[in-house]
Amino acid sequence: MNSIVVNLSHKTYPIYIKRGLINEIGIEIAKIYTGKKVLIITDENVNKLYGKTVEISLKISGFNVDTIVLEPGEKSKSVDVLLNVYNDLLDFKVTRGDLIIALGGGVVGDLAGFAASTLLRGIPFVQIPTSLLAQVDSSIGGKVAVDLARGKNLIGSFYHPQAVFIDPNVLKTLSKTFLHDGLAEVIKYGAIKDIDLFLKLESLKDDDDVLANIDNIIYQCCNIKKDIVEIDEKDTGDRMMLNFGHTLGHSIEKYFNYEKYTHGEAVGIGMYSITRKSEELGLTEVGSAERIKKILIKYNLPYEVLGLDRDKILQAISLDKKNDKDTINIILLKKLGNAFIKNINSSLMNDYI
Ligand SMILES: NC(=O)c1ccc[n+]([C@@H]2O[C@H](COP(=O)([O-])OP(=O)(O)OC[C@H]3O[C@@H](n4cnc5c(N)ncnc54)[C@H](O)[C@@H]3O)[C@@H](O)[C@H]2O)c1
Repeated sequence: MNSIVVNLSHKTYPIYIKRGLINEIGIEIAKIYTGKKVLIITDENVNKLYGKTVEISLKISGFNVDTIVLEPGEKSKSVDVLLNVYNDLLDFKVTRGDLIIALGGGVVGDLAGFAASTLLRGIPFVQIPTSLLAQVDSSIGGKVAVDLARGKNLIGSFYHPQAVFIDPNVLKTLSKTFLHDGLAEVIKYGAIKDIDLFLKLESLKDDDDVLANIDNIIYQCCNIKKDIVEIDEKDTGDRMMLNFGHTLGHSIEKYFNYEKYTHGEAVGIGMYSITRKSEELGLTEVGSAERIKKILIKYNLPYEVLGLDRDKILQAISLDKKNDKDTINIILLKKLGNAFIKNINSSLMNDYI
Protein backbone atom coordinates (compact mmCIF):
# COMPACT_ATOMS: atom_id res chain seq x y z
CA MET A 1 0.00 0.00 0.00
CA ASN A 2 1.30 3.47 -0.89
CA SER A 3 0.89 6.02 1.84
CA ILE A 4 1.47 9.73 2.19
CA VAL A 5 1.26 11.78 5.38
CA VAL A 6 -0.14 15.30 5.27
CA ASN A 7 1.62 17.35 7.97
CA LEU A 8 -0.17 20.54 8.96
CA SER A 9 0.66 22.74 11.92
CA HIS A 10 -2.54 21.65 13.70
CA LYS A 11 -3.17 18.18 12.28
CA THR A 12 -1.51 15.21 10.61
CA TYR A 13 -3.38 12.62 8.56
CA PRO A 14 -2.59 9.78 6.17
CA ILE A 15 -3.60 9.14 2.57
CA TYR A 16 -3.61 5.44 1.65
CA ILE A 17 -3.62 4.25 -1.97
CA LYS A 18 -4.14 0.59 -2.79
CA ARG A 19 -6.04 -1.40 -5.39
CA GLY A 20 -8.87 -3.32 -3.70
CA LEU A 21 -8.71 -1.14 -0.55
CA ILE A 22 -12.47 -0.66 -0.56
CA ASN A 23 -12.96 -4.36 0.26
CA GLU A 24 -10.83 -4.01 3.41
CA ILE A 25 -12.18 -0.69 4.57
CA GLY A 26 -13.57 -2.05 7.86
CA ILE A 27 -10.13 -3.29 8.93
CA GLU A 28 -8.54 0.05 7.98
CA ILE A 29 -11.17 2.16 9.77
CA ALA A 30 -10.75 0.02 12.90
CA LYS A 31 -7.07 1.07 12.97
CA ILE A 32 -7.92 4.77 13.22
CA TYR A 33 -11.29 4.84 15.01
CA THR A 34 -12.23 3.24 18.30
CA GLY A 35 -15.95 4.17 18.33
CA LYS A 36 -18.85 2.03 17.13
CA LYS A 37 -21.09 4.20 15.00
CA VAL A 38 -20.28 5.02 11.36
CA LEU A 39 -22.44 7.18 9.10
CA ILE A 40 -21.82 6.85 5.38
CA ILE A 41 -22.78 9.69 3.04
CA THR A 42 -22.76 8.69 -0.63
CA ASP A 43 -24.68 9.19 -3.87
CA GLU A 44 -27.03 6.83 -5.73
CA ASN A 45 -24.52 5.81 -8.41
CA VAL A 46 -21.71 5.05 -6.00
CA ASN A 47 -24.07 3.42 -3.52
CA LYS A 48 -25.30 0.97 -6.18
CA LEU A 49 -21.74 0.02 -7.09
CA TYR A 50 -19.89 0.10 -3.76
CA GLY A 51 -22.34 0.85 -0.93
CA LYS A 52 -22.89 -2.79 0.06
CA THR A 53 -19.19 -3.66 -0.12
CA VAL A 54 -18.27 -0.84 2.24
CA GLU A 55 -21.19 -1.48 4.57
CA ILE A 56 -20.48 -5.20 4.85
CA SER A 57 -16.76 -4.65 5.40
CA LEU A 58 -17.54 -2.17 8.21
CA LYS A 59 -20.10 -4.49 9.81
CA ILE A 60 -17.68 -7.43 9.76
CA SER A 61 -15.26 -5.20 11.69
CA GLY A 62 -17.96 -4.61 14.31
CA PHE A 63 -19.27 -1.17 13.36
CA ASN A 64 -22.91 -0.05 13.40
CA VAL A 65 -23.57 1.53 10.02
CA ASP A 66 -26.21 3.93 8.69
CA THR A 67 -26.15 5.30 5.15
CA ILE A 68 -27.43 8.56 3.66
CA VAL A 69 -27.81 8.46 -0.12
CA LEU A 70 -27.89 11.68 -2.19
CA GLU A 71 -28.93 12.26 -5.78
CA PRO A 72 -25.81 12.33 -7.95
CA GLY A 73 -24.54 15.62 -9.36
CA GLU A 74 -23.62 19.17 -8.44
CA LYS A 75 -27.26 20.03 -7.58
CA SER A 76 -26.81 18.02 -4.38
CA LYS A 77 -24.13 20.42 -3.16
CA SER A 78 -26.88 22.79 -2.04
CA VAL A 79 -27.99 24.28 1.26
CA ASP A 80 -31.32 22.41 0.98
CA VAL A 81 -29.62 19.04 0.66
CA LEU A 82 -27.21 20.01 3.44
CA LEU A 83 -30.14 20.68 5.79
CA ASN A 84 -31.61 17.27 4.94
CA VAL A 85 -28.25 15.66 5.66
CA TYR A 86 -28.04 17.43 9.05
CA ASN A 87 -31.52 16.14 9.89
CA ASP A 88 -30.75 12.60 8.74
CA LEU A 89 -27.56 12.57 10.82
CA LEU A 90 -29.48 13.83 13.87
CA ASP A 91 -32.19 11.20 13.26
CA PHE A 92 -29.37 8.65 13.42
CA LYS A 93 -28.43 10.23 16.77
CA VAL A 94 -24.97 11.24 15.64
CA THR A 95 -22.59 12.54 18.31
CA ARG A 96 -19.16 14.16 18.17
CA GLY A 97 -17.66 10.80 19.04
CA ASP A 98 -18.96 9.15 15.85
CA LEU A 99 -17.41 8.96 12.40
CA ILE A 100 -18.77 10.19 9.07
CA ILE A 101 -17.54 8.57 5.86
CA ALA A 102 -17.74 10.49 2.57
CA LEU A 103 -17.97 7.77 -0.09
CA GLY A 104 -18.10 9.26 -3.59
CA GLY A 105 -16.86 11.97 -5.91
CA GLY A 106 -16.09 15.58 -5.14
CA VAL A 107 -19.75 16.48 -4.63
CA VAL A 108 -20.20 13.95 -1.84
CA GLY A 109 -16.77 14.75 -0.35
CA ASP A 110 -17.36 18.51 -0.27
CA LEU A 111 -20.91 18.25 1.11
CA ALA A 112 -20.26 15.48 3.65
CA GLY A 113 -17.07 17.24 4.74
CA PHE A 114 -18.92 20.52 5.24
CA ALA A 115 -21.72 18.77 7.17
CA ALA A 116 -19.07 17.08 9.33
CA SER A 117 -17.25 20.36 9.92
CA THR A 118 -20.33 22.22 11.11
CA LEU A 119 -22.83 19.83 12.73
CA LEU A 120 -22.35 19.74 16.53
CA ARG A 121 -19.30 22.01 15.95
CA GLY A 122 -17.44 19.26 14.18
CA ILE A 123 -17.62 15.49 13.77
CA PRO A 124 -14.57 13.50 12.59
CA PHE A 125 -14.78 12.29 9.01
CA VAL A 126 -12.97 10.11 6.52
CA GLN A 127 -12.76 10.47 2.75
CA ILE A 128 -13.17 7.49 0.41
CA PRO A 129 -12.98 9.31 -2.95
CA THR A 130 -14.29 7.37 -5.93
CA SER A 131 -13.94 9.70 -8.93
CA LEU A 132 -10.51 10.51 -10.39
CA LEU A 133 -11.00 14.20 -9.60
CA ALA A 134 -11.77 13.36 -5.98
CA GLN A 135 -8.83 10.95 -5.71
CA VAL A 136 -6.24 13.41 -7.03
CA ASP A 137 -7.70 16.66 -5.83
CA SER A 138 -10.86 17.32 -3.83
CA SER A 139 -10.39 14.73 -1.05
CA ILE A 140 -7.03 16.25 -0.08
CA GLY A 141 -6.42 19.69 1.35
CA GLY A 142 -9.41 20.22 3.60
CA LYS A 143 -11.58 22.47 1.45
CA VAL A 144 -15.21 21.55 2.07
CA ALA A 145 -18.22 23.52 0.83
CA VAL A 146 -21.70 23.83 -0.56
CA ASP A 147 -22.91 26.08 -3.38
CA LEU A 148 -25.29 29.02 -3.43
CA ALA A 149 -27.45 29.97 -6.43
CA ARG A 150 -25.10 32.91 -7.05
CA GLY A 151 -21.93 30.85 -7.11
CA LYS A 152 -20.12 27.62 -6.34
CA ASN A 153 -18.43 26.82 -3.00
CA LEU A 154 -19.54 30.09 -1.41
CA ILE A 155 -20.30 28.50 1.97
CA GLY A 156 -17.38 26.47 3.13
CA SER A 157 -14.58 25.88 5.55
CA PHE A 158 -11.20 24.22 5.90
CA TYR A 159 -11.77 20.88 7.65
CA HIS A 160 -9.41 17.99 7.14
CA PRO A 161 -10.38 14.32 7.25
CA GLN A 162 -8.93 11.80 9.71
CA ALA A 163 -7.67 9.82 6.72
CA VAL A 164 -8.16 9.41 2.98
CA PHE A 165 -8.57 5.90 1.53
CA ILE A 166 -8.08 5.66 -2.23
CA ASP A 167 -8.91 2.51 -4.20
CA PRO A 168 -7.85 3.06 -7.86
CA ASN A 169 -9.85 -0.02 -8.93
CA VAL A 170 -13.14 1.84 -8.50
CA LEU A 171 -12.18 4.06 -11.44
CA LYS A 172 -12.97 1.14 -13.76
CA THR A 173 -16.69 1.97 -13.39
CA LEU A 174 -16.26 5.72 -13.84
CA SER A 175 -17.67 7.08 -17.12
CA LYS A 176 -15.16 8.21 -19.76
CA THR A 177 -16.42 11.77 -19.37
CA PHE A 178 -15.53 11.85 -15.69
CA LEU A 179 -12.27 9.96 -16.26
CA HIS A 180 -11.18 12.62 -18.74
CA ASP A 181 -12.52 15.34 -16.47
CA GLY A 182 -10.19 14.12 -13.71
CA LEU A 183 -7.32 13.75 -16.18
CA ALA A 184 -7.49 17.48 -16.86
CA GLU A 185 -6.49 18.04 -13.21
CA VAL A 186 -3.72 15.44 -13.58
CA ILE A 187 -2.44 17.31 -16.66
CA LYS A 188 -2.57 20.48 -14.55
CA TYR A 189 -0.35 18.94 -11.83
CA GLY A 190 2.18 17.93 -14.48
CA ALA A 191 2.11 21.36 -16.08
CA ILE A 192 2.59 23.32 -12.85
CA LYS A 193 4.96 21.11 -10.87
CA ASP A 194 6.10 17.85 -12.40
CA ILE A 195 7.51 17.56 -15.92
CA ASP A 196 7.98 13.78 -15.45
CA LEU A 197 4.26 13.39 -14.84
CA PHE A 198 3.56 15.48 -17.95
CA LEU A 199 5.97 13.35 -20.01
CA LYS A 200 4.33 10.20 -18.68
CA LEU A 201 0.88 11.43 -19.76
CA GLU A 202 2.34 12.21 -23.18
CA SER A 203 3.78 8.71 -23.43
CA LEU A 204 0.77 6.63 -22.33
CA LYS A 205 -1.09 5.09 -25.26
CA ASP A 206 -4.76 5.46 -24.31
CA ASP A 207 -7.28 5.34 -21.46
CA ASP A 208 -6.54 1.67 -20.75
CA ASP A 209 -2.86 2.49 -20.46
CA VAL A 210 -3.75 5.35 -18.12
CA LEU A 211 -5.85 3.04 -15.93
CA ALA A 212 -3.04 0.46 -15.86
CA ASN A 213 -0.71 3.14 -14.45
CA ILE A 214 -3.25 5.09 -12.45
CA ASP A 215 -2.06 4.11 -8.95
CA ASN A 216 1.31 5.77 -9.51
CA ILE A 217 -0.30 8.76 -11.19
CA ILE A 218 -2.65 9.25 -8.21
CA TYR A 219 0.31 8.91 -5.84
CA GLN A 220 2.27 11.59 -7.71
CA CYS A 221 -0.70 13.98 -7.77
CA CYS A 222 -1.49 13.49 -4.07
CA ASN A 223 2.16 14.18 -3.24
CA ILE A 224 2.15 17.41 -5.22
CA LYS A 225 -1.06 18.57 -3.54
CA LYS A 226 0.21 17.56 -0.10
CA ASP A 227 3.42 19.56 -0.58
CA ILE A 228 1.49 22.64 -1.65
CA VAL A 229 -1.15 22.38 1.11
CA GLU A 230 1.53 21.93 3.77
CA ILE A 231 3.17 25.20 2.72
CA ASP A 232 -0.05 27.14 2.21
CA GLU A 233 -3.11 25.50 3.76
CA LYS A 234 -5.38 28.56 3.55
CA ASP A 235 -4.76 29.42 -0.10
CA THR A 236 -3.02 32.76 0.28
CA GLY A 237 0.20 31.88 -1.56
CA ASP A 238 1.54 28.82 -3.36
CA ARG A 239 -1.79 26.94 -3.20
CA MET A 240 -3.10 29.42 -5.77
CA MET A 241 -0.91 27.61 -8.30
CA LEU A 242 -3.48 24.81 -8.25
CA ASN A 243 -5.74 27.32 -9.98
CA PHE A 244 -3.75 27.14 -13.22
CA GLY A 245 -6.34 27.28 -16.02
CA HIS A 246 -9.12 27.92 -13.52
CA THR A 247 -9.63 31.68 -13.94
CA LEU A 248 -10.85 31.31 -17.50
CA GLY A 249 -12.15 27.79 -16.74
CA HIS A 250 -14.55 28.96 -14.04
CA SER A 251 -15.91 31.74 -16.21
CA ILE A 252 -16.46 29.34 -19.12
CA GLU A 253 -18.37 26.95 -16.85
CA LYS A 254 -20.49 29.84 -15.61
CA TYR A 255 -20.98 31.34 -19.11
CA PHE A 256 -22.55 28.07 -20.24
CA ASN A 257 -24.54 27.71 -17.03
CA TYR A 258 -22.51 24.65 -15.92
CA GLU A 259 -24.26 22.66 -18.66
CA LYS A 260 -21.96 22.53 -21.67
CA TYR A 261 -18.49 21.89 -20.21
CA THR A 262 -17.41 19.81 -17.24
CA HIS A 263 -15.01 21.45 -14.82
CA GLY A 264 -12.04 19.56 -16.27
CA GLU A 265 -12.96 20.47 -19.83
CA ALA A 266 -13.22 24.16 -18.92
CA VAL A 267 -9.90 24.01 -17.04
CA GLY A 268 -8.27 22.40 -20.08
CA ILE A 269 -9.44 25.27 -22.27
CA GLY A 270 -8.18 27.71 -19.62
CA MET A 271 -4.73 26.08 -19.42
CA TYR A 272 -4.22 26.15 -23.17
CA SER A 273 -5.59 29.65 -23.64
CA ILE A 274 -3.53 31.37 -20.93
CA THR A 275 -0.35 29.54 -21.93
CA ARG A 276 -0.76 30.53 -25.58
CA LYS A 277 -1.13 34.17 -24.49
CA SER A 278 1.75 34.09 -22.02
CA GLU A 279 3.97 32.59 -24.73
CA GLU A 280 3.04 35.50 -27.00
CA LEU A 281 3.94 37.87 -24.17
CA GLY A 282 7.34 36.20 -23.84
CA LEU A 283 6.65 34.86 -20.34
CA THR A 284 6.51 31.13 -21.18
CA GLU A 285 8.85 28.81 -23.03
CA VAL A 286 7.72 28.61 -26.65
CA GLY A 287 6.05 25.31 -27.55
CA SER A 288 4.42 24.76 -24.13
CA ALA A 289 0.91 25.68 -25.32
CA GLU A 290 1.19 23.34 -28.30
CA ARG A 291 2.10 20.43 -26.01
CA ILE A 292 -0.85 21.25 -23.72
CA LYS A 293 -3.14 21.34 -26.76
CA LYS A 294 -1.87 17.95 -27.97
CA ILE A 295 -2.31 16.29 -24.59
CA LEU A 296 -5.83 17.70 -24.23
CA ILE A 297 -6.77 16.32 -27.64
CA LYS A 298 -5.25 12.96 -26.73
CA TYR A 299 -7.46 12.69 -23.64
CA ASN A 300 -10.56 13.84 -25.45
CA LEU A 301 -10.65 17.25 -23.82
CA PRO A 302 -11.44 20.49 -25.69
CA TYR A 303 -8.76 23.19 -25.94
CA GLU A 304 -10.79 26.12 -27.25
CA VAL A 305 -14.31 27.53 -27.40
CA LEU A 306 -15.34 29.47 -30.46
CA GLY A 307 -17.71 32.44 -30.43
CA LEU A 308 -17.36 33.45 -26.77
CA ASP A 309 -18.50 36.95 -25.85
CA ARG A 310 -15.20 38.35 -24.49
CA ASP A 311 -16.87 41.10 -22.46
CA LYS A 312 -19.11 38.63 -20.66
CA ILE A 313 -16.14 36.39 -19.91
CA LEU A 314 -14.11 39.33 -18.57
CA GLN A 315 -17.09 40.35 -16.45
CA ALA A 316 -17.39 36.82 -15.05
CA ILE A 317 -13.68 36.84 -14.22
CA SER A 318 -13.95 40.15 -12.39
CA LEU A 319 -16.81 38.72 -10.29
CA ASP A 320 -14.85 35.58 -9.45
CA LYS A 321 -14.27 35.41 -5.72
CA LYS A 322 -10.50 34.95 -6.21
CA ASN A 323 -10.35 38.46 -7.61
CA ASP A 324 -8.77 40.78 -5.05
CA LYS A 325 -9.88 44.40 -5.58
CA ASP A 326 -8.25 45.94 -8.66
CA THR A 327 -5.73 43.20 -9.13
CA ILE A 328 -6.00 39.54 -9.96
CA ASN A 329 -3.62 36.65 -9.39
CA ILE A 330 -3.12 34.58 -12.50
CA ILE A 331 -1.08 31.40 -12.78
CA LEU A 332 1.37 31.13 -15.65
CA LEU A 333 4.04 28.65 -16.67
CA LYS A 334 7.71 29.56 -17.00
CA LYS A 335 7.85 26.27 -18.81
CA LEU A 336 6.07 22.93 -18.46
CA GLY A 337 6.53 21.65 -14.91
CA ASN A 338 7.24 25.10 -13.51
CA ALA A 339 4.45 27.56 -12.66
CA PHE A 340 4.44 30.99 -11.04
CA ILE A 341 1.87 33.42 -9.70
CA LYS A 342 1.56 36.81 -11.39
CA ASN A 343 -0.42 39.62 -9.84
CA ILE A 344 -1.81 41.84 -12.59
CA ASN A 345 -4.15 44.78 -12.76
CA SER A 346 -7.63 43.44 -13.62
CA SER A 347 -7.76 45.76 -16.63
CA LEU A 348 -4.87 43.77 -18.16
CA MET A 349 -6.79 40.45 -17.99
CA ASN A 350 -7.84 41.07 -21.59
CA ASP A 351 -4.22 40.34 -22.62
CA TYR A 352 -4.38 36.86 -21.10
CA ILE A 353 -7.55 35.42 -22.64
N1 LIG B 1 -12.61 20.45 -2.15
C1 LIG B 1 -11.77 20.68 -3.14
O1 LIG B 1 -10.59 21.00 -2.94
C2 LIG B 1 -12.26 20.52 -4.55
C3 LIG B 1 -11.35 20.49 -5.61
C4 LIG B 1 -11.83 20.28 -6.90
C5 LIG B 1 -13.21 20.09 -7.11
N2 LIG B 1 -14.05 20.12 -6.04
C6 LIG B 1 -15.49 19.90 -6.22
O2 LIG B 1 -15.66 18.56 -6.68
C7 LIG B 1 -16.93 18.48 -7.35
C8 LIG B 1 -16.78 17.65 -8.58
O3 LIG B 1 -16.36 16.36 -8.23
P1 LIG B 1 -16.57 15.12 -9.20
O4 LIG B 1 -16.10 15.46 -10.55
O5 LIG B 1 -16.03 13.93 -8.52
O6 LIG B 1 -18.15 15.07 -9.33
P2 LIG B 1 -19.23 14.07 -8.72
O7 LIG B 1 -19.04 13.87 -7.28
O8 LIG B 1 -20.53 14.59 -9.18
O9 LIG B 1 -18.90 12.69 -9.44
C9 LIG B 1 -19.02 12.60 -10.83
C10 LIG B 1 -19.99 11.50 -11.25
O10 LIG B 1 -19.33 10.26 -11.16
C11 LIG B 1 -20.10 9.34 -10.39
N3 LIG B 1 -19.12 8.47 -9.74
C12 LIG B 1 -18.23 8.78 -8.77
N4 LIG B 1 -17.42 7.75 -8.56
C13 LIG B 1 -17.79 6.75 -9.39
C14 LIG B 1 -17.29 5.44 -9.67
N5 LIG B 1 -16.22 4.94 -9.04
N6 LIG B 1 -17.93 4.68 -10.60
C15 LIG B 1 -19.00 5.20 -11.27
N7 LIG B 1 -19.50 6.43 -11.09
C16 LIG B 1 -18.89 7.21 -10.15
C17 LIG B 1 -20.92 10.20 -9.46
O11 LIG B 1 -22.08 9.53 -9.02
C18 LIG B 1 -21.23 11.39 -10.38
O12 LIG B 1 -22.32 11.06 -11.21
C19 LIG B 1 -17.36 19.90 -7.62
O13 LIG B 1 -18.42 20.25 -6.76
C20 LIG B 1 -16.14 20.74 -7.28
O14 LIG B 1 -16.47 22.02 -6.81
C21 LIG B 1 -13.60 20.32 -4.78
